[in-house]
Amino acid sequence: MRLEMPRYMERFGAVKFFDVQRVLELTGGKSSGPLGDVAGTINIGRAELEELESNMTIIIPVKDENPKVLEGVLSGIPHEAFVIIVSNSRREPIDRYRIELDTVYQFYRLTRRPFLMIHQKDLAFSDGLVEAGYPYLLDESGKIRDGKGEGMVLGLLLSKIIGRRYVGFIDSDNYIPGAVNEYVDIYAAGFYMAQSPYTMIRIKWPYKTKFVGRRFYFRRRGRVSEITNRFMNMLIARLTKFETDIIKTSNAGEHAMTMELVDKLAYASGFSIEPYEIVYMLEEYTGIKKNVDKDVFEKTIEIYQIEPRNPHIHEERDESHIPDMIKKSLSTIYHSVLADDTIKKRIIEELVRRGALKPGEDPPKPHVLPPIKDVDISKLFKTLQENSDTLIIREE
Ligand code: GDD
Repeated sequence: MRLEMPRYMERFGAVKFFDVQRVLELTGGKSSGPLGDVAGTINIGRAELEELESNMTIIIPVKDENPKVLEGVLSGIPHEAFVIIVSNSRREPIDRYRIELDTVYQFYRLTRRPFLMIHQKDLAFSDGLVEAGYPYLLDESGKIRDGKGEGMVLGLLLSKIIGRRYVGFIDSDNYIPGAVNEYVDIYAAGFYMAQSPYTMIRIKWPYKTKFVGRRFYFRRRGRVSEITNRFMNMLIARLTKFETDIIKTSNAGEHAMTMELVDKLAYASGFSIEPYEIVYMLEEYTGIKKNVDKDVFEKTIEIYQIEPRNPHIHEERDESHIPDMIKKSLSTIYHSVLADDTIKKRIIEELVRRGALKPGEDPPKPHVLPPIKDVDISKLFKTLQENSDTLIIREE
């Protein structure tokens, strides 16, 4: 895979944001020789990508998706990666989890692709979390909460059990297996470039593609991400007193991290999770707090934003959930300690204008899920092994 070299970077304390790099060739040929090292590009060979992917877990959050689409997603994930599926699909009146499991299991029989699959509402999961000292994912009745962010954090906990060094997320509603394949290669390429053990790769979709009339329409900007990016960059300007447009991936559902960085972050529920990761890094690792994490400040956090070639074609939900997604995203910025009155006022104006907030209301506080570094993973796994009725693992 050949990419543009990271050219421009902005650094805030320990956090380095690299500007968008585009994929130039999906397959860049042999990495050495006259075509290998074109100035301004970086070419990562197949063998290097596979090596990194064999040390990677891919988490797929699922909620009531078409099993055919899920199968396509599985087919796009490079064989070396270990797949974790956390499903929150309905179990009644039809057991959709069972249908998904049959799909995944058949895929395993035909490909021998290792995987772990579990249902988000598995009671052994909630018991195990309490025993392991991490009750934050539970609601008042003791059940695991709904939400994509919740599914992703459960996936992160499970990836600690698997023990690989890198972890990435892929949505389960992606219609193009080739795009999925490219995203995972991009994760590997990003980790190849990285100098720091604390690294994150965020995918910047080139186009969100829609079928309009009789042809495709390639929309350059997502409705939610454009707004969140604007306010996220404004938040940074509050910190530095310099305006910027460096953040282009505030809502990147597709992103990957080193496990070292996973332990250094806190998360947020539902669709707040992706922007909150950035807000948390700005609050925690830019030097505004008295107690700094010396190791992170010494080694820095590297965040790469990479633009694939494949268009993003996914399940289009109705428009009604867009204002809510914008609210969930902007609430992470609104409630940040970095937000001043001006930015707060502008967020409220934006949300009221879009019908996401009533005049006079404040955006709700995001439900924060604290760092998972101290969770007793072996206790959690033991409870799951003994009591889960949905967990299934196939290692080879
Ligand atoms: N486990 C689990 N639990 N998965 C869930 C849940 C849940 O409660 N809710 C949704 N998912 C899964 C879906 O099945 C899908 O694979 C993925 O999470 C994304 O959910 P969608 O509802 O399809 O979101 P979207 O496509 O509108 O939004 C995507 O793009 C946004 C950026 O524009 C997501 O990736 C967002 O996180 C992202 O911000």
